[in-house]
Amino acid sequence: MTEKEAILERHAVRNYLDKQIDRETVLLIEDKIRELNERSGLHFQFISDAGNTYDRFMNKTMGLRTAPSVIACVGKEEEGLEQKIGYYGEKLVLYLQTLGLNTCWAGLFNKKAIAAEIKEDERLVITIATGYGRDQGRQHRSRTIEQVTEGKAERPDWFIEGVRMALLAPTAINQQKFVIRLNDDDTVDFIDRKGPFSQVDLGIVKCHFDIGAGRNQK
Ligand SMILES: Cc1cc2nc3c(=O)[nH]c(=O)nc-3n(C[C@H](O)[C@H](O)[C@H](O)COP(=O)(O)O)c2cc1C
Repeated sequence: MTEKEAILERHAVRNYLDKQIDRETVLLIEDKIRELNERSGLHFQFISDAGNTYDRFMNKTMGLRTAPSVIACVGKEEEGLEQKIGYYGEKLVLYLQTLGLNTCWAGLFNKKAIAAEIKEDERLVITIATGYGRDQGRQHRSRTIEQVTEGKAERPDWFIEGVRMALLAPTAINQQKFVIRLNDDDTVDFIDRKGPFSQVDLGIVKCHFDIGAGRNQK
């Protein structure tokens, strides 16, 4: 399965089977995390037993309490940390999808309960719940290409395909508070229309755009 196919298949899944991720798959996840941490300088951690990470009232109502495992998205406090977490975290989400796992980004969780290693100069920005879903989720309602783009009127195919993939990106409360601007010189700007976790969203959106536009430069 390619990253693009993973984008098309991925939806947020909040209800999981009572089944641990098998050992072989865990090794693959750990390898991928090592690679992404080396590339990005981030400190993603796979925590096989989610424990009480999702014991908040809203987690229970939404179902996330059933997730067997969790990825702690940790990184050194610096400018752009949240976008970077979004970009590389989504690379991981798409990889997990290719392994037959399901995921849900989760900004709401119990910070005291998660067994993550957070060094003094680091911050735990967000989590990703993962495991084998009870279902595959469903397509979110989406804004249109016109609503999320601006700039040059004449749009090359790579740009349209990038935006199409960006509209399939998960965003906090499905807010899609981003704008993608095509400049006259064909460079692209990503604009944050601000909302909860919208900087993480923007990183996720860039990841999807790059895959759609075929510019996997990061
Ligand atoms: C940054 C971020 C934070 C999120 N936080 C939560 C959360 O705390 N609880 C939850 O149930 N879903 C959370 N989600 C999942 C979104 O609600 C979901 O991705 C969105 O509704 C779009 O649906 P989709 O992922 O199926 O495309 C979060 C998603 C993102 C990107």
